[in-house]
Formats: sequence, structure tokens, C-alpha cells
Amino acid sequence: MLIDTHCHINFPQFKADLEAVIERALEKGILMIVAGTDVKSSLYAVKLAERHEGKIFAAAGFHPADCGKSDFDEQEYEKLAAHSRIIAIGETGLDFYHEKNEAGRAKQKEIFKKHIDLAAKRNKPLIIHCREAYPDMLKILREAKKDYPELKGVNHFFSGTEDDLEEVLSLDFFVSFTGVITFTSAYDEIIKRAPIDKILVETDAPYLSPAPNRGKRNEPAFVEFTARRLAEIKNISFEQIAEQTTANAKVLFGI
Ligand code: NI
Repeated sequence: MLIDTHCHINFPQFKADLEAVIERALEKGILMIVAGTDVKSSLYAVKLAERHEGKIFAAAGFHPADCGKSDFDEQEYEKLAAHSRIIAIGETGLDFYHEKNEAGRAKQKEIFKKHIDLAAKRNKPLIIHCREAYPDMLKILREAKKDYPELKGVNHFFSGTEDDLEEVLSLDFFVSFTGVITFTSAYDEIIKRAPIDKILVETDAPYLSPAPNRGKRNEPAFVEFTARRLAEIKNISFEQIAEQTTANAKVLFGI
């Protein structure tokens, strides 16, 4: 059993064959956490969680790379955060790779903080996206922990330095890895350093398809390749990785 802790099967790329995609994951014993990136995709994640109770779980968020495209609808996100089917708040965070403009980056920070408030208010974990923005993201998180000591979550697709890793862990956050680790060794040292009880696996489907499916549309069933590569890097069995990352996800998300 595995839990794909971050996928977007709520995206249009799955419109034609969504139920077959879900079936392929479930056949392998893979559960899914579907992350929303706007109001519409968050609501669709809720619908999928209702349709596949106990197999699919929903998270609501506004993706930082989309912050420049529309406004953050506070009322809608208040409602989503309170929804019993929403088990986490995200994805949210900072993406300075996609946003070079200072005003745009300031807007991302403001919206990220609103997600943190929602997560704290509803006592739900955060799903953080961080790209080329670790100093700013960590600063916001450090400040938030002063107000909300109970705040927890995951830094999805961890891409920081070893020092960033130490800090993320010290702030009670997990780190998760994608299929990218199957075709680059760039994350091997970080993975070796990360304690096994702090690691989650994910696909980020439809993106970042792992080897041997590189370049194709990614899907939750492929999370197995990432888990297998993690086991190799950690020099433990696939079964141990599967068991531990599943237990970690259950602890964090309360599922
Ligand atoms: Ni994502």
C-alpha cells in the first residue's frame, strides 16, 4: 500500500479517462490526496473524495503560480477550509520561478499567509509548494509558528538545500519527493539526510512522470516507481518504504 500524497487528477488532463486512472491506482493499493489549485479544482477534489470515500482525499488551495491570474476569494476558501471532506489546506506557498515581479511575489506571500491562517483555524495540515523561494517561505513559516505552535504540514516536492531541510523539519513539516528522483541524482543526498519518519511520496500528476514513463502524462499508479527509487537510495526494502511513508501520511493527514 502507498499513498500518493499530492496529485491533480482533478485537472483537465484526466477528463477522458479519470475513472480508469483511479482504478489503476486502487488496484495497486494506492490511495490519493488530490490537491486543489483554485476554487473550482478544490471543489472537484471534494467531489472525487465523496465518490471514492476512504480512497481519495481532498485538499483546498490556491496555487502560488496562479496568484497573478485572479484574486483569492476569501469567502470561498473559508467555506472550503471548513468542509469536512477537506483534510488539508493547499497547495499554497511561494513560486518565485514563475513570478519575477516584486508586486506579484508580495501578493503570493499575502495569499500564502491567508492559507496558514485557515490551516491554523481549522487545525488542518498545510501542503506547501516552494520554488526558488526558500528564504522567504521559511521566514513566513517561522513567524507563523510563533502564532500557531501546532501548525504542521508537508513541503511537497522538496527542492531546497540541506540547511533548508533541517529548518523545514524543525518546523514540524514533512518533506515529499516526486518521480523526478527516478531520473536525476540531484536529490539523493537530501533523501539520505531526511529521516525516514518525515518522508512522504507523491506524483504531482499529471506532471513529473517518473522513469520509465518520463515525458508521458503522470498518474497516481506511478508513485510506486518513486517509492522504489527511495528504497534504493535509503538502502532499505520497498516494503519498508511503503509501510513507513504510508504511516507518515496517515499521521500527518489524519486518514
Ligand atoms: Ni501540485
